Order: sequence, then C-alpha cells, then structure tokens
Amino acid sequence: MGMASSDPRGGDRPVPAGLADDHHPPNGALSADDDPAPLDRAAVLARLAPRVAEAWSSFDRPRPVEPELDADLEARLRGGLPESPGDAEAALEDAVRVLDASISPARPLYLAYVGSTGLEAGVLAETLAATYDANMAVTAGGADLVERQALEWLAQFVGYPLAEGSFTSGGMTSNLTALLVARERALPGSREHGVGPSPAAVYCSAEAHHSVVRAVEATGLGTGSVRRLGLDERRRLRPAELHAALEADRAAGVTPVAVVANGGTTLTGAVDPLDAVADVCERHRVWMHVDGAYGLPAAGTASAGALFAGLERASSVTVDAHKWLGLQKSCSAVLMRERGGLEAAFGHEEQYMLHHERVTNAVDRTLEYSRPFRSLKLWLAFRVHGAAMFRHWIERTLDHARALAALVDADPTFHLVHRPTLSTVCFRHVPPGVEDLDRHNLRLARAVQLDGRVYLAPATVDGRVCLRVCFVNFRTRPEAIPFVLDVVRELGEALS
Ligand SMILES: Cc1ncc(COP(=O)(O)O)c(C=O)c1O
Repeated sequence: MGMASSDPRGGDRPVPAGLADDHHPPNGALSADDDPAPLDRAAVLARLAPRVAEAWSSFDRPRPVEPELDADLEARLRGGLPESPGDAEAALEDAVRVLDASISPARPLYLAYVGSTGLEAGVLAETLAATYDANMAVTAGGADLVERQALEWLAQFVGYPLAEGSFTSGGMTSNLTALLVARERALPGSREHGVGPSPAAVYCSAEAHHSVVRAVEATGLGTGSVRRLGLDERRRLRPAELHAALEADRAAGVTPVAVVANGGTTLTGAVDPLDAVADVCERHRVWMHVDGAYGLPAAGTASAGALFAGLERASSVTVDAHKWLGLQKSCSAVLMRERGGLEAAFGHEEQYMLHHERVTNAVDRTLEYSRPFRSLKLWLAFRVHGAAMFRHWIERTLDHARALAALVDADPTFHLVHRPTLSTVCFRHVPPGVEDLDRHNLRLARAVQLDGRVYLAPATVDGRVCLRVCFVNFRTRPEAIPFVLDVVRELGEALS
C-alpha cells in the first residue's frame, strides 16, 4: 500500500519496525540479501529511456534497410538457462537490439495484415500497468473506474449503446466471449450440461475472419454448425440469403445461436449491411454480433460512419484498440447492448473468490481470470490525444487507401482487385508477357518483404493471388503512397 501518513483511513498508522526501513541503498544498487529487486533502478531506467526515445524517432520515417542481428548476439540467443545473475544493462541492450531487428508494425511502411501504430501513450500505460500489476480479476479499486470509463469512451467513439463489456486479449477472445454469451442465451444451461445432440448454428459471411470459426469450435458447437453465406458484389453478407438460411434451419429443428456480421472484413474491408442484418436478426430473434476487430473505429468517422448504420442494434460488438486505434497488443474489447449476459455466461461462486454481499467480481464477467490492465492504454491515449485526433488519423488512413486505389487504377501494369471500402486495398501486378500472374505476385510479395523498404503481404481474392495493403498506421504519410507503388513496380519489373 501507499504512504501511511497520507492515508485518510489510517492517518498516521505506524508500519511495524523493520518493514518501514529502506533497506535498499539510496542509489538503488544491488541489495546484499535475496530481495527480488536486485536492479540498480536509476541506472536501468536511465539506460532504457533514451533507447525507447530512439525507437520512437526511428518510427517517424521509413528505414531504407532493416538491420540484422550480429553473430555474437545470435549465438547468445541460443545459450542455455542462466543460473547466476547477469548484468541487467547488458541484457537490456541485447533486448533492444533484438527488437530493433524484428519486424514492427509501428514502422510507417508496415502495411501487411492489420498492423497498428504503437502510440507512445500505450508504451507509457503499459509501463505503469506492469509496474502496479493491479488485480483485475476482483475489485481493483481505481483501476475499475478507468476500465469502465475506457469502455464507455470506446462505445461512444464508435456509436454503440453500451450496457456492459470487457477488455480482452484480442479480437479472437472478444468474438469467443460474445459467442459464449449468445450460446447461453440460445441454449440455456449449455454451460452446465453441454450443447447436447440438438443441432445449432452460427451464421456469417464467407469472408468472416477465421477467429469466428475458431470461436464456434471453442463453444462446442462444432465447425459443422457454421453457415458461411455468399457475398454480394461488394463482398458483403446478403440479408435475403441470411433470412433463407435461418428459415431453413428453423424448419429443420436447428437452433440459431448467433449471426456474426462483419464490421470490416480482414481481406478487403467489406462492411456487411448492418441495418438489414439487424432486421433479419430481430425477425428471427437471433443474437447479432458485429466483428469489428479491424474496421469498427471507422464508425466514428465522417466519411465511413454511414457504412455502420444499424450498429447500435447489434447485441454485441468486437473492436480491437490494438489495430486501428493505434495501440499495442493486446487490447480488444467486447461491448454488449444489454446487461447480464456476461454474468450468465461466466459468473460463478468459488471458495477462494467469494462475493462480497451481492457484488460480483470482474472475473464473473470475463473469460480470463488473471488479465492485465489493458484498458489503461486506451484511456491514456484518449486522454492524451482526444477523440477528434483519432478521427483525423483514421480519416487520413482511409484517404491513403483511396489514393493508392486511384494510382493502381491509373497504371495499366496493375489491376485493382476491389474498390476500397475502408483502408484495405488488394491489387495485382499484371505486367505484359507474364503468364502465371499468381506465381508472379507471390514472388513479388516475397521480394517486397525481403527488400524491406515497404512491408506488405500476399493474399488471395476469389482464388487469385494479389498484394494486400492495410493502412491503419497513423505514421504513414500521404507522400508515401506513390512510393509504395513505385517500390512494388520496380521489384515487379525486375521479376517479370
Ligand atoms: C475482422 C477480424 N476479426 C478478428 C481478428 C482477430 O483478432 P486478434 O488477432 O486481435 O485476436 C482479426 C485479426 O486481424 C480481424 O481482422
């Protein structure tokens, strides 16, 4: 606990003799006994701070080449378990060099998969959260208020009427959390008795993220219960097909558990027609979950907000702050429109975690037990930057996607695979004379990764290999967009 003399509950309560003594030398040097705080605190912090600052400034601009690990360090990374204490500053130096030679999504031209920005506020919050290591499984005190406020701010940002929710480790866990709540609602008692032999189903588009399938597997419903439905011309779920699937299943005695709509698919950024999906879900009285792990922050913007009309009707939503809200892994949230579902799915009474009167513990509303104070990152980032800045940053990444699509369209040696809905663009290099374009684009993606000036990844759309770029990094500047295509063209021409 903190300083006894300023504690309003304790006044000047004395600390027992021996415990109050500062038995660390004033400079924080190694203690003589076996105290588990053997660091020279001032020295390691002084060593680390400039290293963090150097990393931050290295993220400001793209690097022409990526560094490699030297042979000595590589050899040390194959060494066995150290038995005796080592030099903390040397170990820190190695850690910094290892990380500097690792691929970081915070670099402005990391455009593969769905990256992030690595906002500095997140680093500060992670440091503080790890320092205090609050126990978020039970009532943690002030941290609970921050957790609640961060959830409310997040819901406000995306325009969702929050009743309850929780921070989780990622979109995968948020989707699973929502589906476990939906399962208990559709099949009451399944928590206790299992899902039983009666068939049940979960509905999503053919391009829903794999985590939805994995979550369904974890609910015990089985992969066979996933109905992956066809796409319209904008790669969105078709509400009429959803309605037909629900009707057919009901007629066949199948219990619909949930519909998972996309709030931005990973492959192309497609946003399902949420209002029309909500109509179908209401008609069939089915849980509607929106997987907005990647795309949902765009709901808060002027230019893309309308795509998410109907979001407020969803029973639950997933949104990852460690993607388009710029923060470090891991920081996702699952938001619920009604109160009580989380406790129905996860609440319990244990001898080692009693409920004080009728107050539930945080762990009664989460899938995880021990979990870090993730929300502090988002809370601090909103406090430091403000929601308007996030909207501005997200708008800029949406502009990058539109700009890249326009450049691709204007160059006959490229083919734009889809019009960007959000910040993802898939395109192919189609130089004259190359017959196997799939092989060419796969080799090209590899060549771009090895080159290192830009980092993107290959993907397949409708069975064809393409290059996929996703703009979620607030450090990417508008001037970089023509450069991205120039690099791809240069390397593509060398291969063709
Ligand atoms: C739409 C969507 N849902 C879920 C996930 C899984 O999120 P996480 O990696 O945070 O578990 C992703 C990851 O990219 C995603 O894009």
